[in-house]
Amino acid sequence: MLILGIETSCDETAAAVIKDGNKILSSVISSQVEIHHQFGGVVPELASRSHNEQIIPVVNKAIKKAKIKIDDINAVAATRGPGLIGSLLVGFSFAKAFSFAKNIPCAGVDHLCGHICSIFLEKNPPKFPFVSLLASGGHTNIYYVESPLKYTLIGRTRDDAAGEAYDKVSKMLGFGYPGGKIIDDLAKKGDPLKINFPKPYLDKELFDFSFSGLKTAVLRYIQTHKNEYKQEIVNIAASFQNSATDVLSYKIINAAIVKNTKNIVIVGGVAANEGLRKKVIEKAKKKKLNAYFPSYNLCGDNGAMIAAAGYYYIKEGRFIKPEDDVYSRIRTN
Ligand code: KG4
Ligand code: ZN
Repeated sequence: MLILGIETSCDETAAAVIKDGNKILSSVISSQVEIHHQFGGVVPELASRSHNEQIIPVVNKAIKKAKIKIDDINAVAATRGPGLIGSLLVGFSFAKAFSFAKNIPCAGVDHLCGHICSIFLEKNPPKFPFVSLLASGGHTNIYYVESPLKYTLIGRTRDDAAGEAYDKVSKMLGFGYPGGKIIDDLAKKGDPLKINFPKPYLDKELFDFSFSGLKTAVLRYIQTHKNEYKQEIVNIAASFQNSATDVLSYKIINAAIVKNTKNIVIVGGVAANEGLRKKVIEKAKKKKLNAYFPSYNLCGDNGAMIAAAGYYYIKEGRFIKPEDDVYSRIRTN
């Protein structure tokens, strides 16, 4: 079974060909970072227009790289939401037209389900049930996952997403978008205990997050140390990262304990964070839990994870209807 996966929910135009739900034959990602960098964040209209330019070349490249013919594709899967409406419409409408023209089924995949399913593309995927932390630019959620399409939201951010906090701190320090990798790299050179930023645990028994207070604390530090903060940039990055990753790792480890499962899975753009990976692995080991992370190229948005999730949609007969539309906000059903 060959599935073409398409992702256009935000600022990556991505397409991939996956065999039997877990073998990546090709994965092509065309990033729009160059376009949005100067604005310090994603400009929705520019994103949609760029997807429109890129979608056919990216799909063609994915088919070519997979060394298959267009007629070999058995099904198509595209992100249906959540995300930017104009961006989603490009990939979703493309997939609809593709399935119509080729008379093959089409799945409208939830982007968050796609991130969870990114772990099934790894060689040794976790056994069910597991708890999953999905940390990206738009979401910071904890799920209890019983099967690829059966997952329950047990925690979420009440304000900023973790990746969003990284992006905003990067902007405050004069670096661009996206900021996660920049802060992660700076943090490696700094002292994580130099500045005492708050650790927003909220209720330690609950799995909800809040990152806006931490972000504001960094802003206040910069404002009150106007003349000296430039010498402290690596320490600000390291101390911010220390607070954020302490909370993220604590909550997901605690979720595994409360939900009585041995397996934890970290997915989404922030799963690429070196500091977070290290901390989660260390804490999991102490509690005799198994920690799973996707490869770096599967953490950020990609078409392979959408095809991986699409495989299960198709197997369950969850095809889209011709009149189905995209959605912008998280769906919990
Ligand atoms: O999953 P993703 O590609 O897109 C969304 O669905 O949002 O995640 C993008 C987010 C951005 O906020 C980016 O700054 C963050 O992931 N990110 C990181 C790292 N790499 C990407 N955050 C922290 N550390 C990183 N190494
Ligand atoms: Zn994403």
